[in-house]
Amino acid sequence: MSTKAHERAREAADELRSRTGVDSYGTALVMGSGWAPAADMLGSAGSEFEVDELPGFLAPTVQGHHSRVRSVRAAGGDLLVFLGRTHLYEGNGTDSVVHGVRTAVAAGATRIILTNAAGSLNADLHPGRPVLISDHINLTGRSPIVGADFVDLTDAYSPDLRGIARQVDPSLPEGVYAAMTGPHFETPAEIRMLRTMGADLVGMSTVLETIAARELGASVLGVSLVTNVAAGLGSEPLDHEEVLETGRGAADDVGRLLAGIVERL
Ligand code: 6GU
Repeated sequence: MSTKAHERAREAADELRSRTGVDSYGTALVMGSGWAPAADMLGSAGSEFEVDELPGFLAPTVQGHHSRVRSVRAAGGDLLVFLGRTHLYEGNGTDSVVHGVRTAVAAGATRIILTNAAGSLNADLHPGRPVLISDHINLTGRSPIVGADFVDLTDAYSPDLRGIARQVDPSLPEGVYAAMTGPHFETPAEIRMLRTMGADLVGMSTVLETIAARELGASVLGVSLVTNVAAGLGSEPLDHEEVLETGRGAADDVGRLLAGIVERL
């Protein structure tokens, strides 16, 4: 656990501290596609800057993905909010994908809230709905862990944090999230395979960040916003604009949900 990448995360946390004046964060949030506007509802915004001004971060490249990090003062304490993330499909490797999570933990965070946009494989999980991730299937073929660190991923998505989320909205459903590398969407045959495997949601992020957080002992809450039904299950062709559009429509809803969660931590 003392690789160069972890060292780089500690450097980023030091730089973060000197820029924000915040000594330690309890909770960090990573805002997925469409989730960034929800950050405005978490508390009062403190310092904010381009994330690549910190050591080890790359500028995200995809439309709708912001590349900023914001310090937010909330009633329960200071929150570190990443208004976007780096994806495996950008081609920069697992260390850059999980650098935000490692930096957050180095900055004190013991809870990581990971949000994303996902396709639905389950007829009960409709577009526009937030869904708690109960477990994942990592089909990226990758792990952020290097060396013989045999991390237990039972209850990787904290049952306690899911319980807190359900205090805010008792009707929140749960689902298993399957991660593909993308950037293409799946074929209908791949979606049938994922359903057979027990997946309810499919996306291109989150799982490596969860693994990195668990390696460092932080608790994880994962929340997907269903933005579309997966290939072969609906009548519409899939496109990234639809993903962003659904995100815009649900921004108030998911903002209230996240604000309610962080209030209770
Ligand atoms: Cl259908 N697939 C993947 N891999 N990611 C998505 C998605 C589908 N919908 C939103 N994100």
